[in-house]
Order: sequence, then structure tokens, then C-alpha cells
Amino acid sequence: MFGSRIIELEIVESTNNYALQLISAGKAEHGLVVSADNQWGGRGRTYKKWDSLPNQNLTFSVILSPLFLSPSDQFKLSQAISLGILDFLQKKASEKFSVKWPNDIFHGDKKISGILIENLIFGNKFEYSVIGIGINLNQTEFCPGICDAISLKIITGKDFDRKQALSELLSYLKARYDELAEGNSQKIHAEYLQRLYLFEEPTEFQISDGILKGRIIGIDEYGRLVVEGEDGATQRFIMDEIKYLH
Ligand code: BTN
Repeated sequence: MFGSRIIELEIVESTNNYALQLISAGKAEHGLVVSADNQWGGRGRTYKKWDSLPNQNLTFSVILSPLFLSPSDQFKLSQAISLGILDFLQKKASEKFSVKWPNDIFHGDKKISGILIENLIFGNKFEYSVIGIGINLNQTEFCPGICDAISLKIITGKDFDRKQALSELLSYLKARYDELAEGNSQKIHAEYLQRLYLFEEPTEFQISDGILKGRIIGIDEYGRLVVEGEDGATQRFIMDEIKYLH
């Protein structure tokens, strides 16, 4: 069951690494959660670090075995997880949050949560997915360094009980995962687009051959960002091929 077993660690290098080690050791099960008070080597996407002050935020990983998904559907899982986090944040702070493609969670122009998904695919089968999530809950000082960060406490002025927050968040994640497992990926896709940061707004991007001015007009079935340039031409990008200049 999703989240019915939680391994709580005081300190670990990275909960994603710990989860991956459990999988290698044959000790993983669908729904197992690894949560840490502190990570000394927290990882973000594209080889970035994930810094989070000890005992203030949520840093955890969920091991899933989404056998109903084919490897080419990986992005659907990422969309469902992003929506689960948005559902949780919306409930805690009645404010507008959005998802910056592929899966950074934003409040205005500031990041409140990051997701690192590492999939283990054997042949044509989705074996395991490690969903690593960091959410800024009670931290109020982020500079120097990641000054574009924000937390629920900064937004609401309230302190959050981390254990309670994790349990609530897991139930929102489970609800979205179940929605996906029940075949509602179209609905998830539509909601993801509704919540997409800078969707259909004039935006500038850095791409390999310079600056692209255009608008995000969609996400394709492989999770690629679809951008329409000012010249009307449409281009599709995978994660490392495009950077927002906003
Ligand atoms: C990103 O924004 O680039 C993704 C950040 C993901 C951070 C979480 S914290 C829990 C899990 N363990 C890690 O080492 N990373 C993820």
C-alpha cells in the first residue's frame, strides 16, 4: 500500500539513494516511503544539489511500481505527482501554485517544491520508480544561494507539523496515482496544462542555438515541451534542451 510503511531517518545522504539501494538489495515494496530529517547530499535534477535546512522541511522518496504504465508513459506519472503536490499546497495555503515544466512547483516566481523521479526500466517493463520530493515547509531563510525559493511558512505565516504534513501529502499523492492507475491520464494531462507556469504566455528560452522567443502551447505524449516561436514554427524539447530565461 502507498505510504503504509515509512522509514524515518535522522540523516542520510539522499532519500532517493537510500530508496535505490533498497531496490538493489531486493528490499523494496510498492508504496514504501523513505523520509529524512536531514540530507547531506540531497540531489536535484540535472546534477544540481537540493539544499534544505535540517528538521524544517519535507525531504522524502516514495518507491512505486507502476506496472500499468509503459516506459513511454513515464511523464504521466510525473504529471500525477505534480498535481498531488499542488492539491496539498492548495489545501494548506489558499493561494495559486503552478507547475513549471517538467515538475518544479512554484508560487508566483518562486520555487516551493522540487521532484526528482528516477525510473528503473527493464526491457519494456516499468519495474520501479523512485519519486523524490522536497517541499519547503517551515524554512524562512534561503539566501545566499537559492533566493528564488519560498516556503509554506513564508506564504501563510504558520508553522507546519512535518509528520502530519507528510501523511496528508501522501494521501493526495495516492489519490492522483490512483486516478492515473484507473486510466484517467487525459484528465490529469488537462489539469496539468491548466496549472502550467507561463502556459501560452510570451516567454524567452535559452536553446542550443540561441534565444527562442515564443509561447508554450502544450506538452506532447512523451512529456516534451511544445513551443511555438514568434515565426509560428513549432518545436519540441526534452528537459536538457531548453531553459527558461524568466
Ligand atoms: C529538483 O528540484 O531539481 C528536484 C529536487 C528533489 C529533492 C528531493 S529531496 C528528497 C529526495 N532526495 C534527494 O536527494 N532528492 C529528492
